Amino acid sequence: MKYSKVWFAIFSTLFALNSLAQNYFEGGDDKYKPLLGQEGKDVIWMPTSNELLAIMLKTAKVTPNDLVYDLGSGDGRIAIAAAKDFGARAIGIEFNPQMAALAQRNADRSGVGDRVKIINGDIFVEDFSKATVVTMYLLPDLNISLRPTILKMKPGTRVTSHAFNMGDWEPDIEIDSPTKAFFWVVPAQVEGEWVISGIEPKSKAILKLSQHYQKIGGILQIGSNSQPILNPKLDGGNLSFSYIDRSKIPHFVKLAVNINEINGIDKSTGYYDVEITGKRR
Ligand SMILES: C[S@@+](CC[C@H](N)C(=O)[O-])C[C@H]1O[C@@H](n2cnc3c(N)ncnc32)[C@H](O)[C@@H]1O
Repeated sequence: MKYSKVWFAIFSTLFALNSLAQNYFEGGDDKYKPLLGQEGKDVIWMPTSNELLAIMLKTAKVTPNDLVYDLGSGDGRIAIAAAKDFGARAIGIEFNPQMAALAQRNADRSGVGDRVKIINGDIFVEDFSKATVVTMYLLPDLNISLRPTILKMKPGTRVTSHAFNMGDWEPDIEIDSPTKAFFWVVPAQVEGEWVISGIEPKSKAILKLSQHYQKIGGILQIGSNSQPILNPKLDGGNLSFSYIDRSKIPHFVKLAVNINEINGIDKSTGYYDVEITGKRR
């Protein structure tokens, strides 16, 4: 047993002891009764409480437009709640075939079998790149292994994890009650130099951005004048910052990032709003 599995087991035991008092077998039926804490391929089965999963899905602002993937879906409860209570389509990926079959039966019994599909597969093999929301209750090292795949997903994809974080990718939101969970928005890759047109009539500006996940900083160079951008913010594919022009007028810039192009608006009190565009240098 790996070290992380051991401490997951310790952590889970506290939860399990509490749950055992209520029901040793959870979410089972006459065909299959899973045991709390039973071995799984990379992590044991321990369900997320209904209270916490509702908070996780609410934090992710799940809507009927979403496709939710639960990685390691157990008895299917997160996928089922995403469909039943939030109107989303949901896909669970579960390695244990009996568990996957049980989860699909649970979805059918809950009346959302048409919107919930449980795939019997491995989260490290199945493609979940079409998800708009990813949920998981895994282990710290599994989260870290999945992190590069998650960061390649469409900017704006929402991710929520029960109990475990993503290492140095700090969460956008930390949930503390009834137990720990975390929430992130996949940031666009913006690091590098961008040539911006429109910031000042007849001149081009250079925006140099540094990035650590969703945290960004940068320098805006307009002609011979360079200044650090103010209040830089990256929310998925939306980038915003402020700067002060040479007449000391503050400007507020909002840009949508599309891989190698950025487009948006430069608002200020002194001038009309102007549309600005940029390309990677
Ligand atoms: C801690 S449980 C979480 C279940 C569910 N997501 C929830 O929160 O209620 C983890 C689940 O992942 C499954 N699992 C473990 N390794 C897996 C893998 N490599 N691919 C797919 N499922 C896996 C286990 O069988 C178990 O059902």
